[in-house]
Amino acid sequence: MTIILRTIAELRAWRDQVPPDQKVALVPTMGALHAGHMSLMGLARDRAEVSIASIFVNPLQFGPSEDLSKYPRPVEADIALLEGAGIDAVFLPPVAELYPEDASTFVVEESVSLPLCGAVRPGHFRGVATVVLKLFNIVTPDIAVFGQKDAQQCVVIERMVRDLNLRIDIVRGPIVREPDGLALSSRNIYLDAADRRAAPAIFASLEAARLAFEAGERNAETLAGIGRAVLAAEPWLKLQYWEVRHPESLAAIETIGPAGALFAVAAHLGTTRLIDNYLARPAE
Ligand code: PAF
Repeated sequence: MTIILRTIAELRAWRDQVPPDQKVALVPTMGALHAGHMSLMGLARDRAEVSIASIFVNPLQFGPSEDLSKYPRPVEADIALLEGAGIDAVFLPPVAELYPEDASTFVVEESVSLPLCGAVRPGHFRGVATVVLKLFNIVTPDIAVFGQKDAQQCVVIERMVRDLNLRIDIVRGPIVREPDGLALSSRNIYLDAADRRAAPAIFASLEAARLAFEAGERNAETLAGIGRAVLAAEPWLKLQYWEVRHPESLAAIETIGPAGALFAVAAHLGTTRLIDNYLARPAE
């Protein structure tokens, strides 16, 4: 039975009952759960005795022209999925529970949140870091699980955990894909038939660059050029960025060194914005 907790007080009462020798794993989500999320739930269950998911469509991380009001909210179906996955509790707070009207304290990361999505979604990572720190403070998990699909989000959260000395292990769950390579995302439901036909080009562009990397190419611009060329052949898709970056600092690099690199893509299909990535690691 998945326990439904709607207030911070309920959550804390539940948390206080967990024996101190049992680890708690948190999977923060915005709901509209799919197989990608469910793989994160599996990791939470494997890594800790007690598992909790949060479902909260966080207004603070949406820009004024973004999809906050139309973001899917299939709460009953989500709860059924969490039940089926054996998740112990779900935190489902209303907006007013997390944000007092005069809330005036926010978490701003000032380096790894700036490029890539940060450059085109101002305020987005401030919203993410703020809500994630609040969830961490409320749940006090030992482990928190995030999807590698949002690679920059993982980097921002890992940086926050390091910089603010949080005692939480961050686990990244691998990207889950459709058979044609499209990364699972709650936003895929917005794609119409023509968008959906074009969408796998994003993964194809990452694959082309991965193959070149595995064949020994280490020049960042050459690899990004290979990826961009694949997407240029799909005019339905409007590229926002295709970048090869340092995997931890997200700084631009000339050559891929021992740390490897993050290949990161964002593109629009109609009004839907999709992101995807590949973490390139040089062979040991
Ligand atoms: O990845 C998401 O769904 C959200 O950004 C998160 C981490 C739940 C914060 O709202």
